[in-house]
Amino acid sequence: MNNRLILVTGGTGYIGSHTTVELLNSGFDVVIIDNLSNSDKEILDRIEKITGKRPYFEQFDICDEEKLEKFFNIYKKVDAVIHFAAFKAVGESVEKPLMYYQNNLVGLMNLLNRMIQFNVSNLVFSSSATVYGQPDKLPVNEQAPFKPADSPYGNTKQIAEEIIRDVVKSNPEFFAISLRYFNPIGAHPSALIGELPRGVPNNLVPFITQTAAGVRDELKVFGDDYNTPDGSAIRDYINVVDLAKAHVVSILRMIEKNSKHNLEVFNLGTGKGSSVLEIVNTFENVTGQKLNYSIVNRREGDVESVYAEIRYANEELGWKAKEGLDKTLLSAWNWEKRIRNIKD
Ligand code: NAD
Ligand code: WQD
Repeated sequence: MNNRLILVTGGTGYIGSHTTVELLNSGFDVVIIDNLSNSDKEILDRIEKITGKRPYFEQFDICDEEKLEKFFNIYKKVDAVIHFAAFKAVGESVEKPLMYYQNNLVGLMNLLNRMIQFNVSNLVFSSSATVYGQPDKLPVNEQAPFKPADSPYGNTKQIAEEIIRDVVKSNPEFFAISLRYFNPIGAHPSALIGELPRGVPNNLVPFITQTAAGVRDELKVFGDDYNTPDGSAIRDYINVVDLAKAHVVSILRMIEKNSKHNLEVFNLGTGKGSSVLEIVNTFENVTGQKLNYSIVNRREGDVESVYAEIRYANEELGWKAKEGLDKTLLSAWNWEKRIRNIKD
């Protein structure tokens, strides 16, 4: 419709697939590059079922310089890039740091090189609240300093943001927006796409839904001795569809040349912190499922409390998270039920 073509790297993944749906629904054309290292080709059918449109798809590794060059030679009219493709498992990154630096940083540098070579000058980058560590002040705003990263994964996000900052500085024609996601959760209301963790989930909500589905015996709540009202740790859980919509807004901002600076950084959260026990209770209330859980020691590397200052995203980007925890947790459960074939 609007004839704008957006390249979405990692577009068959969790956040990429939801973003592709929102882009297609907003009239953009989308081409996905994904090597399917953490996703499934079937997602393309699901995206088509939801939107009535099928994104173009190229399966290869963005670290492959020649293939990426060939790609840009074929898709000559890419207007902007949203770069999701990366590894994201914090624990795995501690065991295999080089794999993470290689994939997340070489992939980014390769992409930036080719974008500059082919005059593609708009980039949205998936960053993370992990860059803040435990902030000195809550809610945390975009000016808060990076804290030493707790994991190689976290370090790749800090370094990636610095690489982008330097590239933008040396190329006045280049525009980038770094979006720092807090804790994305939930699934599309159609329950056709959602998060597909491989093996034992690290993240809280997939662990909860798998426990409710009987795939895991019990949820371990990591710590009830934090300095928080109920003793469990606090995070800012953000609905994945809301998050996806922020990418569309960011793309429009760059294409319509409304960026205030060549590099802009926005927190994407709700601004509200929820504790682990609040998430567990809300999940039980909205789904009617009784969760088996026990309290165990704190998880190494976890911070006590993080939630976003969202004023800048609200006022400058014109984006605000809309969905509440109830509906979001219900969407996560509906997705889990669908992939496990659980009937009501
Ligand atoms: P995901 O694993 O579901 O999606 C990433 C996709 O990228 C996958 O489909 C994978 O196959 C693909 N991919 C990975 N490396 C690739 C490569 N070298 N070449 C081509 N494709 C490759 O992850 P997600 O949760 O959708 O996260 C997307 C982005 O958002 C990542 O950069 C992640 O670090 C960032 N992020 C995620 C969260 C979160 O909690 N999910 C929070 C903050 C930031
Ligand atoms: C949330 C809370 C846990 C599992 C991670 C990455 C971050 C970002 C989002 C990518 C914490 C507690 C969890 C469990 C629990 N990803 N928990 N039992 O750690 O805030 O952030 O994912 O960028 O970089 O670090 O998210 O979902 O793992 O944990 O009690 O089985 O749930 O201790 O307080 P986290 P999470």
